Amino acid sequence: MVPGQENSVSAIEWRDDALWLLDQRALPVQEVWLEHHEVAAVVESIRAMVVRGAPAIGITAAYGVVLAARNRRNQDAYTWRAQLEQDLEALAQSRPTAVNLFWALDQMRLALDKLADNEDPIVQLLREAKKIHRLDVAANHAMGRLGSAVIASYSTPAKGVITHCNTGSLATGGYGTALGVIRSAWQQGLIDRVFADETRPWWQGSRLTAWELSQDKIPVTLMADTVGATLMRQGRISWVIVGADRITANGDVANKIGTYNLAVLAKHHGVRFMVAAPTSTFDMMLSSGEDIPIEERGPDELVAFKNHRLAPDNIDVYNPVFDVTPAELIDAIVTEKGVVESPNLAGVSRLMEKQSLH
Ligand code: MRU
Repeated sequence: MVPGQENSVSAIEWRDDALWLLDQRALPVQEVWLEHHEVAAVVESIRAMVVRGAPAIGITAAYGVVLAARNRRNQDAYTWRAQLEQDLEALAQSRPTAVNLFWALDQMRLALDKLADNEDPIVQLLREAKKIHRLDVAANHAMGRLGSAVIASYSTPAKGVITHCNTGSLATGGYGTALGVIRSAWQQGLIDRVFADETRPWWQGSRLTAWELSQDKIPVTLMADTVGATLMRQGRISWVIVGADRITANGDVANKIGTYNLAVLAKHHGVRFMVAAPTSTFDMMLSSGEDIPIEERGPDELVAFKNHRLAPDNIDVYNPVFDVTPAELIDAIVTEKGVVESPNLAGVSRLMEKQSLH
């Protein structure tokens, strides 16, 4: 378990000089851990979604840099730093949307640039990767406190929340972003039930979120992705709470495909909509969500399940796996540095200028 993490699940561990990842493709049926010694295997694990979720991808990439540097340095003690650029580039190519990946690679580059002559680069890089990991857990706990305070400030009776995709310990260094807020709000009696949608086509909701919340004994109801509107109309939902893969300077949010649908539904039904994400998820270089690269994955996720065919042969498939929710549909973005209500350029800029709370 990661230090400082109060819940049972962790997905990324550095042990015995190797990176260990809980294979999220096998959950919830099996808990399989994969051991990584080579950066190429780390790249493939990110691409194939052994590990997924924006902060978790960033943390994994940081440990991947440690493995890459160790191997390059063993091969050639003089040219390793130049050779390492290829590995950084390979990691950067693994998935395009979650900006935490690029943020973590930048942090590792900075650590490399700061190396003093008498320092062991591998020791320093590992220290930096562990720091990225540790600070992500701390950020999640801070978001849990701040997000639940926002929920409490509306002082409505405890009701259900809808969450989408998986934003918990599996998607982060531990505790979770949106699931961190949900965990914290549940402990304080501010919500009475979590409705987790399946999150097609990869089933992060049913396979991961339902599993994680069940492990922590938080009441969770699984539903199809299309049920949210009905629940909102029945008056059973006070908040939709989701994570993010990239937030632009104006407060637009890229997150798992289907997030935008929920935001539109929430606006129509007068349900509040919260995004929880660490500041490592912000991309201040992009002015709006229109500029965010949206990953498209192959047709296999839709046309078949295991060996069972679900669609005609040769059918055309469109499978974007993220969408963009415009800032005007969002009531609050919760970060470890503070909360931006009704996000816009001014609010996001003020937030990003603040010092970290930890
Ligand atoms: O394709 P995935 O499973 O990596 O997508 C994950 C999400 O969209 C999460 O909602 C997001 O990364 C926030 S996780 C804390």
